[in-house]
Amino acid sequence: MNDEEFEEVLDRFIPYRESKDKGVEYRKTYGDVFDRRTLLAFYKLLKRSIEYVEFPISTGKEAMVFRARGKGNELFAVKVYRITRLNYKGLSKFIDGDERFDRVHKTRDNIVFIWARKEHRNLKTFYEKGVIVPKPIDLWKNIVVMEYVGDEKSPAPLMKDVMENLKKDILFEIIDEMKKMLQSGLVHGDLSEYNILIWEDKPWIIDVGQAVPPSHPLAQQLLARDVKNVINIARKMDINIDRDYVLRELEVI
Ligand SMILES: Nc1ncnc2c1ncn2[C@@H]1O[C@H](COP(=O)(O)OP(=O)(O)OP(=O)(O)O)[C@@H](O)[C@H]1O
Ligand SMILES: [Mg+2]
Repeated sequence: MNDEEFEEVLDRFIPYRESKDKGVEYRKTYGDVFDRRTLLAFYKLLKRSIEYVEFPISTGKEAMVFRARGKGNELFAVKVYRITRLNYKGLSKFIDGDERFDRVHKTRDNIVFIWARKEHRNLKTFYEKGVIVPKPIDLWKNIVVMEYVGDEKSPAPLMKDVMENLKKDILFEIIDEMKKMLQSGLVHGDLSEYNILIWEDKPWIIDVGQAVPPSHPLAQQLLARDVKNVINIARKMDINIDRDYVLRELEVI
């Protein structure tokens, strides 16, 4: 990246600009999403889909999510996988055995890019089949751009933080979304109140990178866990359902 390009990223990537003044702690937390390759990837996206990157809305171990603006001032969520903190084993077990990626050459160096591609592709599959997920907008390298769930004031809350105010209907709507996901040919694989946003009384399914087709060696196990997690959510909402009920609703028995 030449100096001019770098200045261009800097100018429209507010968190980076601020990291200059906010000192060491800030750099420690966000430092590895400001590595050269990630900034270069942002450069590309700032040319074609993103206008501004505003601020971080979540800092996870493997990824950070930023709020951003599109060219038409719309809100985006931008998920940036940390290149330097990737867990090769953790990621590759969800890619190996996924026939969609059989022909993709996988190495330590590119696994995170394949992962981002997989998340984007899963989102697209879900979105096209009518699952309530953020619309995928763009993808480049380790960065996934998607529709932002929330409004100007704040992002949609995670289900786990609003459990006590939820209508019981929402649980059955989640089972509906699970069914749509299965019918679209993928098991979510990390479904829980930590990966569901509640917005306008609807459950929005997020964090779909690990989703795999039913032919994947882990699919059955992941499905069993998703079902267990949903029963758990039901229990927390004082709804009494069992495994057979959920499996029947999902039309897998
Ligand atoms: N499209 C979105 N709109 C609004 N907020 C979002 C969106 N996507 C993610 N978020 C916020 O960012 C948080 C983290 O997102 P997500 O669950 O996809 O990643 P993660 O759990 O950090 O992933 P990893 O486990 O790989 O680190 C979410 O809990 C949610 O608060
Ligand atoms: Mg998550």
